[in-house]
Amino acid sequence: MQSTYIFLLFLFLISICANCNIARESTPIAQGLKDYADFPIGNSISIRKIIEDEKYRTMIKQNFNSITSGNDMKMYTIGREEGKYNWEKADETLAFCERNNQRIFGHTLVWHLGLPKWIQNNGKEHGADWVDEYLETYITKVVSRYKGKVAAWDVVNEAFETAGGNYRETFWYQYLGKEYIAKAFRYAHAADPEAELFYNDFNIERDTAKFLGVLKMIEELKSEGVPITGLGFQMHLRMDIPDEVIAYTLKKAGETGLKIHFSELDIIFNRHDDTKDGGEQVYKELTKEMEQAQAEKYKNLVLMYRKYIPKNQQYGITFWGCNDRDTWIKRFFGIEDWPTVFDENLNPKRAYYGFMEGLKEKIR
Ligand code: XIL
Repeated sequence: MQSTYIFLLFLFLISICANCNIARESTPIAQGLKDYADFPIGNSISIRKIIEDEKYRTMIKQNFNSITSGNDMKMYTIGREEGKYNWEKADETLAFCERNNQRIFGHTLVWHLGLPKWIQNNGKEHGADWVDEYLETYITKVVSRYKGKVAAWDVVNEAFETAGGNYRETFWYQYLGKEYIAKAFRYAHAADPEAELFYNDFNIERDTAKFLGVLKMIEELKSEGVPITGLGFQMHLRMDIPDEVIAYTLKKAGETGLKIHFSELDIIFNRHDDTKDGGEQVYKELTKEMEQAQAEKYKNLVLMYRKYIPKNQQYGITFWGCNDRDTWIKRFFGIEDWPTVFDENLNPKRAYYGFMEGLKEKIR
């Protein structure tokens, strides 16, 4: 009799242990922002940091199902040497995303900033034909290498002047005129007809002249049959940009029928003039009140995205670096600031919960 009890107890203990194991294996990793959204939530990453920093890596996996490479897929990385393509970091980024089931957003094929010297020199020496040929070769190589893997590309980035509705006279513009934009989209489409192709720019949510200039360009491109399918708002916001202005722009953006991506979201307190080291330190520390106001700003932005952008055009919201330790804002503009939703220790700020509330709240 006693031995039967012992045997039953033994069976009972085994079954508890087995259940423990099952429970451990099937427990999903703690929920993150992505689990509250019905569109992708993204972040920009540096693959080096992903490899080296476990806390950062975990935070990225938990919260984001779309990834943009911060610098590793730009021409100044992939095309930095003549006659050679540096795929290493881009390939590693893709492998990381594939392992974690994350969408890959390609950033960026054509940009004026940081253009390698050897490209500029060749332009000077050989003129427009060489520039066009290089544009085509570069885009074709990059897009076809990642065909079917990179879901969307920022094909052209920042083709308009910092303020107002005129084209920026970039290297590409100087040789090819504004036609370089249409060409870039056509080359990208030929290399991967399935990829979504975006035009991406900053301050268009607040600078109406610039925004209307971009809309006019999009109209022209569409009327010429250029395969543009998306518009990226970088959304490097500042606390005092009025929500009403953003709402106006988003309504109009929705009417284009394009996919709309908030591609580089952060919200700063201080000021800058949009140039490197052009920061102005207005606030020296982050108070509780400021943190709360920032949380509300993040929340309202998400609500506006959900309200004004039609469902089938919501391509996602991507942060540009999601923690106050690594944010590009401090290094680029030379100021202290707290623009993201995770603090210096990679812990969620009020802004994180504000953003989450914006995802959860019922839309009226
Ligand atoms: C920034 C990176 O975050 C920095 O590390 C780099 O020094 C400069 O570029 N708009 C863009 C992004 O489209 O590619 C920029 O990224 C930020 C502004």
